[in-house]
Amino acid sequence: MSLFVQNQWYVAAYGADVGRDLFSRTVCGESILFWRTEGGVVTAMSDRCVHRRFPLSQSPSHLLGDTVVCGYHGFTYGADGVCVGVPGQARVPRTARLTAYPVVEQDSFVWVWIGDPSGAEATAIPRAPWLDDEGYTTVCGMEPLAARAGLLVDNLLDLSHETYLHGGYIGTPEVANTPITTEVDEEGGIIYVSRHMDDADCPPFYAKSTGIQGRITRWQDIEYLPPCLYLLHSRVAPTGVLPLGDGTDPGGFHVEVVYAVTPETENSTHDFWAVARDFALGDEGVSDFLRESNRTVVLQDVVALDVLEKVIASEPAGYQELSINIDTGALAARRILERMAQDGATAMEAAAR
Ligand code: FES
Ligand SMILES: [Fe+2]
Repeated sequence: MSLFVQNQWYVAAYGADVGRDLFSRTVCGESILFWRTEGGVVTAMSDRCVHRRFPLSQSPSHLLGDTVVCGYHGFTYGADGVCVGVPGQARVPRTARLTAYPVVEQDSFVWVWIGDPSGAEATAIPRAPWLDDEGYTTVCGMEPLAARAGLLVDNLLDLSHETYLHGGYIGTPEVANTPITTEVDEEGGIIYVSRHMDDADCPPFYAKSTGIQGRITRWQDIEYLPPCLYLLHSRVAPTGVLPLGDGTDPGGFHVEVVYAVTPETENSTHDFWAVARDFALGDEGVSDFLRESNRTVVLQDVVALDVLEKVIASEPAGYQELSINIDTGALAARRILERMAQDGATAMEAAAR
C-alpha cells in the first residue's frame, strides 16, 4: 500500500508560482512539472522524460509555445503530456506520453489530483474562498518541512502548543488553559476543534494588527478537511464584544488562517500557510507585520517538528504515546486519514485490475 493517502486533491503551489517558467514540485513522492499555456491554463505532467528520464524542469529543457522540449535529446510534449515530436524520425512511438495529472486552480492555489484520474472530481476540492476575495487582504508563504505530514496535522489540531512554542507571538496562557470542544463529522470526514476564550491576553500578533488595547474575547474554530486543507477561523474583539443577534459581527476582527499540508516524501512536507484578514485592508504595514510574524511562528513549528521527525525516525517503533483531552482532534484526524488511505488504496487496486 502506498505511504500516501491516494485518490485525493493536494495543494501543489500557489497560482502565482506557476507561469511560463517550468516549475517542478514533488507531491506524494511524484515529481510533477507545472507550467501555464499561452492561454493561461495550468498544466501538470510527470517531470520525467519518457526517453531517459531527464527532468523536464531541468535546463536546458524549455517551453516552445504550448509544448515542452526535453533539454537532453529534444522529445517534445504537448500540454496534455502526449509526445508530439522525437528527434531523427517522423514516427512518434504510440506509448510516448507523460503521465498527466488532473489540475485545478482555485482560491489562489493549484490543486493536483494524486491517484486514479478517473476519480478526480473538481467539485470535491475543499474551498478557502477568502484567499481570493476582495473583502480580505491575504499574506502567504510555504515553508519546507523535513518531517512527515502527520506531525504537522498533529501540531495544527492542537493549538494549546501556542502558549509554549509561540509565546510572545500568538501564544498566551489562556490558550493552553481553556478546554476545547471537538466534533467529528465521520461521514463527511471533517474534524472541528473549538476553543473560545472569553477574557484573554491579546498577543502581539493581534494587538499590533487590530489596534485593540487591553484584553480580548478570542475564538479559535478549526475545521480540518483531510488530507490537505486546514482552516482556522479566528475571531478577536475587545472583551465582551460579541456578534450581534442578526449574525453580523461589526465589532469583531476576523482572520482566516489557512494551511495546506502536502506530503512531499514519506518524511518531508510542503507547509503552505496563508493569513487572510477582514480589517486594515490593503494596509502594507499590517501586511508586512502579519507576514513576518506568521512566518516566524511557522518556522518555530518547523524547527520543533524537524527535531521530532529525527527522534521518531531514529528510535524503535511501537512506543506508547500518552494522549490527553487536547489530543482529541489529532487522534480523530489520524483515524480518518487511515481510513482515507485504505479507501484510496482499495480504489487504486480496483483501477489497476
Ligand atoms: S531524456 Fe528526454 S529526450 Fe532523451
Ligand atoms: Fe504552531
